[in-house]
Amino acid sequence: MSYPYQIRSMEQYLSEYKRSVEDPEGFWGGIASHFSWHRKWDKVLDWNFTDPRVKWFSGAQLNITENCLDRHLAERGDQPAIIWEPNDPEEHFRILSYKELHFKVCQFAQALKNNGAKKGDRICIYMPMVPELAIAVLACARIGAIHSVVFGGFSAQSIADRIQDAQCNLVITSDGAHRGNKQIPLKSVIDDALVQCPSVKKVIVLTRTRVPVSMIKGRDTWWEDEIRKVETQGNPACPAETMDAEDMLFILYTSGSTGKPKGVVHTCGGYMVYTNYSFVNVFQYQPGDVYFCTADIGWITGHSYIVYGPLSAGATSLMFEGIPTYPDAGRFWDIVDKFKVNILYTAPTAIRSLMGFGLDFVKNKDLSSLKVLGTVGEPINEEAWHWYHENIGKGRCPIVDTWWQTETAGILISNMAGITPHKPAHATLPLPGVQPLLVDEKGTAIPGGDAAKDGVWFGAGKTGEPISGNLCIKFPWPAILRTTYGDHERCRQTYFATYPGLYFTGDGALRDAEGNYRITGRVDDVLNVSGHRIGTAEVENAINMHTGVVESAVVGYPHDIKGQGIYAFVIFNGDKSDETRVRQAIIQTVARIIGPIAKPDKIQLVGGLPKTRSGKIMRRILRKIAEGETHNLGDTTTLLDPAVVEEIKTGRL
Ligand code: WT7
Repeated sequence: MSYPYQIRSMEQYLSEYKRSVEDPEGFWGGIASHFSWHRKWDKVLDWNFTDPRVKWFSGAQLNITENCLDRHLAERGDQPAIIWEPNDPEEHFRILSYKELHFKVCQFAQALKNNGAKKGDRICIYMPMVPELAIAVLACARIGAIHSVVFGGFSAQSIADRIQDAQCNLVITSDGAHRGNKQIPLKSVIDDALVQCPSVKKVIVLTRTRVPVSMIKGRDTWWEDEIRKVETQGNPACPAETMDAEDMLFILYTSGSTGKPKGVVHTCGGYMVYTNYSFVNVFQYQPGDVYFCTADIGWITGHSYIVYGPLSAGATSLMFEGIPTYPDAGRFWDIVDKFKVNILYTAPTAIRSLMGFGLDFVKNKDLSSLKVLGTVGEPINEEAWHWYHENIGKGRCPIVDTWWQTETAGILISNMAGITPHKPAHATLPLPGVQPLLVDEKGTAIPGGDAAKDGVWFGAGKTGEPISGNLCIKFPWPAILRTTYGDHERCRQTYFATYPGLYFTGDGALRDAEGNYRITGRVDDVLNVSGHRIGTAEVENAINMHTGVVESAVVGYPHDIKGQGIYAFVIFNGDKSDETRVRQAIIQTVARIIGPIAKPDKIQLVGGLPKTRSGKIMRRILRKIAEGETHNLGDTTTLLDPAVVEEIKTGRL
C-alpha cells in the first residue's frame, strides 16, 4: 500500500497546510478518494459550531472494516496485521495475518449476529489486551453495531453507568485478565455490574485465564462455543454492513469537570480518513514497518492508533497484553528487540517510570530497529524527553509529541517524524486541516496565537517571547466528536459554549516564535493521572459515598511518575482513632465506585474546607497547598473561616 497523501518534506507540509485552510473540502475530498466507499459523498463538509453540527462526507457509504481488512487481502493478505505479545514472556506470541484477521473478524461478526446483534445496537466490550479484543471491536464495526469499550481498570459501578447510559444489549468480556503478576476477574466484575443493567440480554465470554466463572443460563455463552457454531454453519461469509459516513462507529466514555463521564461519539467516515491520515503522516509509517503502540484499546489511543489508523493503512500493529515493569522494567525493550520494532509510541508516565529503574534494563537490548519514537497523553518534561531520545532512540530517532484528546479522536498537534522538526516538550505544529487558536479568558484571540490567520501560517509570535492562552480549534477536522451520547446539549455546553464559535479543548498552551505549540495542561477541574483523564468532581462523589465522610475536595499535585497525583482533603466524622484504616477505607470506596485508576495518592483528614461566604470551595488555595506552596496562597480575605487554611497547612501530607 502506498500513501499518496504522505507528506515528505517541510516545504510540502507548509503547502499542504495552506491548502487545507484555503480549500478544506478539496483537501479532505482528495484524501478520502484513496479509501473504499460503497457510495461517494454528496458534500465533503457541512458544519456550524453553534448547534453544533458537523457532517463530513454526507451521503457517502462505507464500512470501515473493509478499509481495514478486505482491501488489503489481495496485496498483503499474508503480512502480519497484528503481532500479539502476551503478559507472560514464556507464553507464545501470536501473529495474525490480514487474511487471518479478516477471517476471524467475519467469524465473530457472524457469532454476534447469531446472538441477535444488529446494526445500531450498542455493545459493551470489557476485555484484556488480547487479539480477540481487536477482533470484537472490528466485528461490531462489521455489522454496524456501536462499540463502547470500557478499560479493564474500571469498577462494576463504572461499567454499569456506561452500559445504562448507552442502553447496551450485549457485553463481550473474558473470564479474567493477566496484568503483571496479578489476575483481574473481569467476568465477575461484569456480573456485579449487570445486576443493575436489564438492557443486557447476552454476554459472550472469552477464555483467557481459566479462572472459574458463573455462567448465567440463557444470558451467558462462551466465545469458543459461539465460534464453533459458526463453523458448523459453514462459516458463512459475513458481508460488511453498509454504513452512512455519519452513522455512529463507537462511543467512548471520558471524564469532564462535572458529574458523570460523557459518551463521546465518533462516526464512520471522517474518523476513518483522519485516523489513517494522521497515522501515516505523524509516524511516517513505511510499508513493512513494525509499529508498537503501548496503549490499551480501552482508551482512545488504542482505538485510533492500535486498531483503526494502522489497520486502515495496512500496517503491522503490535499489541502488548502486559505492563512495562513485568517481569522487569526491561519489558518494552525486550519487545522492541524481539520483534524488531521500528516505531514505538508510548506515554510520558511510562518513560518516567522506566527511567527510574536505571539503564541496566536498557543495556544489552538491541534497539537498532527503532526509527521513530512517540509520546502521548500528557506534557512530557524535558528530562524524560532527553532520556527517551538518548537512551532509547540513541540520539537518532525523531520523537513525535502528539497532542490530542478522546474528543478529537486523532492527533491534532504534533511534529511529523523526520519531516518537521521536533522540540523537547513541545507538540509543535498543527496537522494540515487543524486550525488552533489561543484565546484569553474572554475568548478574544491572542495576537500570534492563530496558526491559520491571514495567510500568515507560522511564526506569528515573531516578537520573541512565547505567547500563552487557552487552546481552541476554530474549524472542524474530520474526526471531531459529533455529540455526547444521548445528550447533545451537554456536548454543546462542554465544548462549544465557553467560547462561541470555537471548539474549546480545556487545555492551556504556549506558542513560540516558530509557531510551535507547547501544551501546558488542563485549565479546568480535570486531572491527568498517568495520561488518564479523571474529573475531580467524580472522585469527590466517590469519596463522599463513604459513610463517615461529610465532605471532600480533590485537587491534583505534581507527581514524579504519574504527572499528576490525586490529593483529597476530607472531612470525616466517623471513628478517627486509626487514620490509616480510615484512609484505606476511603481508597477502597473510590476503587469500588470508579476503579483502581482513581485511587487518591494522598488523603488529608481536615476539620473544614476553605469556602467563600457563598459556600464555594476555594480549590485554588487547596491546589497551592497540595503543590507545597504555603506562603503565597493569594487572596484569602473572602474566606468564611480563614483559620481552616492554617489548620490544613499544618496537616499537609
Ligand atoms: C488530554 C486528553 C490523546 C490520547 C490520550 C489522552 C492531555 C494529551 C498530550 C501531549 C500534552 C497532552 C491534554 C488533553 N494530552 N496528549 N502530547 N502533550 N498534553 O486522551 O484522556 O482524552 O486526554 O490529555 O491535557 O486535553 P484523553
